[in-house]
Amino acid sequence: MQTKIATNISEAAAFLANGELVAIPTETVYGLAGNALNDSAVVKIFEAKGRPQFNPLIVHCGSVEQIEHYVLQIPPLAYKLSERFMPGPLTLLLPKKDIIPDLVTAGSDKVAIRIPNHPLTLALLQQLDFPVAAPSANPSGYVSPTTAQHVWDQLQGKIPYILDGGACNVGIESTIVGWNEKNETLVYRLGGLSVEEIEDACCQKVKILTHTESKPQTAGQLLSHYAPRTPLLLGKISVLIEEYGIEKVGILSLNKKYEQIPLKNQFMLSPQGTLSEAARNLFQAMRYLDGLGLRVIFAEWMPETGLGLAINDRLGRARYENKLLME
Ligand code: TXA
Ligand code: MG
Repeated sequence: MQTKIATNISEAAAFLANGELVAIPTETVYGLAGNALNDSAVVKIFEAKGRPQFNPLIVHCGSVEQIEHYVLQIPPLAYKLSERFMPGPLTLLLPKKDIIPDLVTAGSDKVAIRIPNHPLTLALLQQLDFPVAAPSANPSGYVSPTTAQHVWDQLQGKIPYILDGGACNVGIESTIVGWNEKNETLVYRLGGLSVEEIEDACCQKVKILTHTESKPQTAGQLLSHYAPRTPLLLGKISVLIEEYGIEKVGILSLNKKYEQIPLKNQFMLSPQGTLSEAARNLFQAMRYLDGLGLRVIFAEWMPETGLGLAINDRLGRARYENKLLME
């Protein structure tokens, strides 16, 4: 299959209406979109990604009115969050209507749904008469794509169209939020909307439900995810250098350079030290360092505040725990 990279919304819409897949830009990461109401399009998504069908997909809409077509109800707190943060890096987990295929939710009676904040994709979604299901547009388990080129590198030949919307300006996936029977606010995946902002809007503390190893409720909770192929070790970089040496080493730091290591093997996530910039650069950094053919990447934890939590979550899942490293 020939893959085209371009910026034409009508062309993208035509492929989607035909049951074909289109990679779409969002503010978080690029998505691999297909008509969410069309089972055969949804099956193509799982196939192109090599993703197991027990792992459900997020549904993308162009407005809150569109969301109302696909969910049974929007509870008051969800409504409040939607008013403040949609479009934006927020996904709500809400009871689904029957029109959403079980294939999309992997059999769950709840659908994860969001409105991406990217002008091209918003315009596209507003002109479609169906929502699109879209996981991140990477092969299952690998680092998420934040440019059209990243998508091309991995899905070229497998999909007909990549809608090029430039680099994603949030850079990590949406925060997934839901509610339990006690009406407590639960964060299923840390992401581009910080916990502090959600708590501020809800006027209550949230419970963070990530790091469930067995029977994950969302795959963002699978421990090994978002991983580069080069082993990545996490900790204090100076200590890692002492312990493992400097030969063929890559560095992923917030804003510190290490003299002993060639500059081209170092990626500072944010020279200014801001966490939003660090989030924006995270996956690009992992891809860059992964492409250098290094023995190992040393990465450091970010401060545990704001987007630092979500970055640390992704770093934790990218880390390598195989003890064979030193052989
Ligand atoms: O920012 C994002 O959310 C990006 C862009 C493309 O919108 N999408 C994304 O999709 O990250 P994906 O498939 O890579 O991750 C979606 C996560 C998975 O961990 C999945 O298990 C969870 O959302 N999820 C989707 N539907 C769900 C549902 N009905 N119940 C529980 N978890 C769900
Ligand atoms: Mg993903």
